[in-house]
Amino acid sequence: MEKEDLPQFSEWFNTPEVFGDYNPLHQSSKVETEKMLESPLELRPFIIEKKDGTKIGFIAHFHVLHVAGRQLEIGYTLIPSERGKRYCTEAIQIMLDFLFLSMETTRIQATTDTRNLASQKVLEKTGFKKEGTLRKYIFVRGELRDAYLYSILREEWKEPRILTRR
Ligand SMILES: CC(C)(COP(=O)(O)OP(=O)(O)OC[C@H]1O[C@@H](n2cnc3c(N)ncnc32)[C@H](O)[C@@H]1OP(=O)(O)O)[C@@H](O)C(=O)NCCC(=O)NCCS
Repeated sequence: MEKEDLPQFSEWFNTPEVFGDYNPLHQSSKVETEKMLESPLELRPFIIEKKDGTKIGFIAHFHVLHVAGRQLEIGYTLIPSERGKRYCTEAIQIMLDFLFLSMETTRIQATTDTRNLASQKVLEKTGFKKEGTLRKYIFVRGELRDAYLYSILREEWKEPRILTRR
């Protein structure tokens, strides 16, 4: 994500439909969004772009606990009109290649509301394994919801699928 993407990112961040039915509602000013990106524990977002340059969502990685632990988590979202076209599956594959090729992490995790079947499908298609249920983990639309914890280890990733080592 470049600085010029901030207004678009900030708009998405404040639009409930962009995060769908299974994510907490977000509200963040442009200044707050910019600050969030500066913190080492916070989101490192990448814009998901189609070949023609249309920006259709984002995928982010962030540290779980402390940066020194090298535990990474990813999160992703697409604008509603671009869902169901397998773009997210491809975006996750690229993100896994990027993180395992460029960082010393051995594990990448993701969490998702137990009702979010599309998200579970993309995680399973990209090699993540379900580890278990995080009870009453996310606050969505007025209630605490259970979430599944997924992870993929470096040895399960094995080799890049889309990016190359060079
Ligand atoms: C979750 C999300 C990112 C998936 O992206 P996507 O590009 O639509 O996903 P893909 O098209 O790559 O794959 C979705 C898969 O789930 C399946 N799927 C979609 N909705 C489903 C449902 N309700 N039940 C079962 N399977 C479903 C699709 O058929 C597809 O599987 P297939 O490739 O075998 O046909 C997208 O739906 C989204 O942005 N949702 C809102 C935000 C969100 O929930 N983010 C994740 C937070 S954890």
